[in-house]
Amino acid sequence: MVTTIQEVYLENKDTKTFLFRYPVKIKPGQFFMIWIPDVDEIPLSCSYIDDTIKGITFRRIGDATKKLFELEIGDKIGVRGPYGNGFNIEDGKILFIGGGTGIITLTPAVEEARNKGIDTTVIIGVKTEEELIFEERLKETGSKIYITTDDGSKGYKGFASDLAYKLLSREKFSSIITCGPELMMKKIMDIRNDIPMQASLERYMKCGIGLCGHCVIGKGLRVCIDGPVFNHQKLEHIKDFGLYRRDASGRKIFFK
Ligand SMILES: Cc1cc2nc3c(=O)[nH]c(=O)nc-3n(C[C@H](O)[C@H](O)[C@H](O)COP(=O)(O)OP(=O)(O)OC[C@H]3O[C@@H](n4cnc5c(N)ncnc54)[C@H](O)[C@@H]3O)c2cc1C
Ligand code: FES
Repeated sequence: MVTTIQEVYLENKDTKTFLFRYPVKIKPGQFFMIWIPDVDEIPLSCSYIDDTIKGITFRRIGDATKKLFELEIGDKIGVRGPYGNGFNIEDGKILFIGGGTGIITLTPAVEEARNKGIDTTVIIGVKTEEELIFEERLKETGSKIYITTDDGSKGYKGFASDLAYKLLSREKFSSIITCGPELMMKKIMDIRNDIPMQASLERYMKCGIGLCGHCVIGKGLRVCIDGPVFNHQKLEHIKDFGLYRRDASGRKIFFK
């Protein structure tokens, strides 16, 4: 449907949130296909979940997100979805690990977990302090928050996966939920010590509904409908996890 942007928030110099009316039920971790008139249609996670109002939060990096960044209150966007499976939030003590824009996808899951009274710890990993988003929003949930920056400008100096390793060796968690650069998620998979894990993957999407086959990984899994969230049992059998993705033309792009 075509909806009107009702509120706009500048989260950092390259990241904005749009809120719009979209009265459907959504699970954290699900995504929309967002149509930007005259430019493209791209997948974006649902970053705010309220009964009638939903949100997207996006980083400007290419043609579609740059055009989206220019839109204002009152402008229209096309929204399809929600699509994908979303996270399963189960009782216990959950460690959330978000790298870069991955924290956008995780934040509604942290909020749902806290609403259910679950004990939550969140690692927000960014390259530098300027890239931080949702710090206050996550603090308001009452979660234990850790920040990591690659350059040491705030919090722990190093990668989110390095701090995760330290936390996992001194605290007991019942599950791990992660979203971010795939090499980071692969590292977490390697250090998880038998703790159940869910990871939200990104692949190039065209249809978003399982028809075009563009987002296929492993042995015929479609990230748009079988994912984007995969548990460790599935990830263990996906050979391309942490190895490569495909661009718009289907060419392999190896992670480095
Ligand atoms: C399930 C899912 C959820 C996502 N959620 C968010 C989010 O909440 N916030 C956010 O900032 N980004 C999110 N992304 C990434 C977002 O889709 C890309 O940043 C966006 O499509 C870039 O488009 P562009 O034209 O601005 O950049 P381009 O210059 O065209 O591309 C920049 C990068 O984005 C990737 N990309 C471009 N088009 C697509 C596409 N149709 N499908 C998948 N990847 C694409 C490219 O492969 C490239 O790596 C998500 C991606 C997926 C698959
Ligand atoms: S995007 Fe078309 S099958 Fe997944």
